[in-house]
Amino acid sequence: MASQVLVAANRGPLSYALAADGALSARRGGGGLVSGLSAALAAQPEALWICAALSDADREAVRRGVGEPGVRMLDIDPAVYDDAYNGIANSVLWFTHHHLYDIPREPAFDAEFRRRWDSYTAYNQAFAEALAEEAAPGARVLVQDYHLALVPGALRQLRPDLRIAHFTHTPWASPDFLHMLPDDIRSRLVWGMLGADQLGFHTAAWAAAFISGATVDDVHGVADGFVPREDHQGGVHHRRLTEDGRYGEMRFTGVGQYPLGVDGDDLRALAHRPEVDEKLAALRAEVGDRKTIVRVDRTELSKNILRGLAAYRELLTTHPEWRGRVVHLASAYPSRQDLEVYRTYTDAVRSLAAEINAEFGTEEWEPVLVSVQDDFARSLAAYRMADVALINPVRDGMNLVAKEIPVVSEAGCVLVLSTGAGAYEELRQDALGVNPYDVTATAEALHAALSMPEAERTERTKRLAASATALPPEAWFTAQLEALGN
Ligand code: G6P
Repeated sequence: MASQVLVAANRGPLSYALAADGALSARRGGGGLVSGLSAALAAQPEALWICAALSDADREAVRRGVGEPGVRMLDIDPAVYDDAYNGIANSVLWFTHHHLYDIPREPAFDAEFRRRWDSYTAYNQAFAEALAEEAAPGARVLVQDYHLALVPGALRQLRPDLRIAHFTHTPWASPDFLHMLPDDIRSRLVWGMLGADQLGFHTAAWAAAFISGATVDDVHGVADGFVPREDHQGGVHHRRLTEDGRYGEMRFTGVGQYPLGVDGDDLRALAHRPEVDEKLAALRAEVGDRKTIVRVDRTELSKNILRGLAAYRELLTTHPEWRGRVVHLASAYPSRQDLEVYRTYTDAVRSLAAEINAEFGTEEWEPVLVSVQDDFARSLAAYRMADVALINPVRDGMNLVAKEIPVVSEAGCVLVLSTGAGAYEELRQDALGVNPYDVTATAEALHAALSMPEAERTERTKRLAASATALPPEAWFTAQLEALGN
């Protein structure tokens, strides 16, 4: 019999809402990680998903014992959770892996940072303890993402019998950025990850960044002897310096590449529900027979929405022939609004879109239609009518939207894709690659995309859709389980 499978992720497959009358209702959690994992786990009915209670309603559900089979939510102290999620995961680790710092001011690792780091450690420890409690002997545990980087190490201490994998959905910081972290913190982070038997990344570039970040010098105080395997992709040998100054046993952690893709049949079925047909008809009525440039993102700093809008403005300026003939459908739904920098960014996106509309709009034509609703049906409708998909993140683990749009677009679409997106590794042949900082080059790529002959666009879209569906979630998940052995 195959061994038990457990998954740990900050965000669970569902979240709760509390109505005024005290009733709890559940809805599906958001984001690429949740949709990929949910799809993968549909084929693993026995699996247990451990996640954090994210809100007061989630905590209330835990207290009332409300839940779904196969899901355990952890009720972590809200102040500890806030420090760990907002203070460290999203403000430090996310910024480090995506290179988002405004360098003259940030980062500054002070006493407040240390206090939050302790909370991050406690939150990771709570996951490790829950996993240790739930896991049968020899179970396989798949830990997800930068929120839970310390879990593999902590769990190995509690349960050396388990087989542990960790998957990073983000990029991994280049060594220069990783080495901005205080030495002892970087060491804890790397050692937390190396507690795993197997580490997974979306691309060869992120896997290589992990290996070189961990091996570029010895991690201060506690480590020695990281040896990358000959092919530089296989993993690292490591042994840990113990408190009495001796080296512990040599261990090996595999480092592999698992580029998550989309399930084409599932996605097409979702995109052809009556609800999506209705949204499509409404959008079509608004856009008319104009061409569309589509983007769909969380309002996320790394997604580079502002430079995307600036490129669209430059397109309308330098190629005035497109005025009145194209509409930019930009769906940018709010994310991480507890952080001020995200609120400011969201405001900036809205006001730049408004400026463009004021500058170029006419009675008949609104150049940019911004939607801030997290409305998956509307997004799918936009995918279906996309002539051009604009995906220009400064740095992105994968970017599933880049894979979803070519699968669903009806008339075929041209993908304008940042070289900083993980998806670029697989899609570069058929996408129009852009340097995400180069607004002029992005504007020119939009022009080339809008002008591409139909036959070429159809051929490229076919190949993009084939690459995008090469490793659907279930296969992605199974490959990682197999790497742990049966
Ligand atoms: C990225 C991360 C996920 C995260 C998602 C949404 O895809 O890799 O771990 O869940 O963003 O972010 P949020 O903070 O809303 O969970």
